[in-house]
Amino acid sequence: MEATAKADLKPVLVFDSGIGGLTVLREARVLMPERGFIYVADDAGFPYGGWEEEALKARILALFAELLQRYAPEICIIACNTAFTLAGADLRAAFPQMTFVGTVPAIKPAAERTRSGLVSVLATPGTVKRAYTRDLIQSFASQCHVRLVGSENLARMAEAYIRGETVSDDAVRAEIGPCFVEKDGARTDIVVLACTHYPFMANLFRKLAPWPVDWLDPAEAIARQARRLVPAADHADHPDAYDFAVFTSEAPDFSTRRLMQGFGLRTL
Ligand code: DGL
Repeated sequence: MEATAKADLKPVLVFDSGIGGLTVLREARVLMPERGFIYVADDAGFPYGGWEEEALKARILALFAELLQRYAPEICIIACNTAFTLAGADLRAAFPQMTFVGTVPAIKPAAERTRSGLVSVLATPGTVKRAYTRDLIQSFASQCHVRLVGSENLARMAEAYIRGETVSDDAVRAEIGPCFVEKDGARTDIVVLACTHYPFMANLFRKLAPWPVDWLDPAEAIARQARRLVPAADHADHPDAYDFAVFTSEAPDFSTRRLMQGFGLRTL
């Protein structure tokens, strides 16, 4: 709210249920240094993975009605697979004047890159259930064997991990284990990180994987898509009042605030 008076360049709004969207924000920053960023975490609704679909959709639409009015961004990046695969089309229909850049499981690039033909998609239970995800598989990966792994716990574990809490190796192994498939002498060679929280744990995944695979993180591709849609500016400084984070709980804890600071975001 506070910043609009100084703004001649509108900010980029990045949205997620929690801190996962920061994996996209850090790439978007590199490509759009002239823009300010508003990071919105619907932490009061976190985790999105277990929500009933209609209720979650209604929540996201209501939230955006408020956010767009309050912050008038240039563009919105929905840095959350669980939200976008459910509500992306409705957001575009409800707010036709706004540009939404979405995040969907990177099934197409995975299908193009796999050599073994065995691809796994590691996501929230919500994302693996979506018709959107099934359609992506049918359209782009029908020649592959795709294993969908809906993890109940990983998004929470990623939140804890990035805040510096200890996460047990065995617990992580149990979550990623189903991604590793051996079939007719071939092995999974690509795991799609289809939840924006997961790239924060990629090093741990690499360490604990039963064999090496490519962990596909779409953050950079999403940022590139946003860059294409945001008009380039002829001056490089954005109003310093931008670059802040908003939490729907209105009560982020100390470690969350510190984390935001590490990403150059003030917490309102
Ligand atoms: N970061 C979100 C995603 O990309 C989901 C985390 C959650 O709320 O469960 O799907």
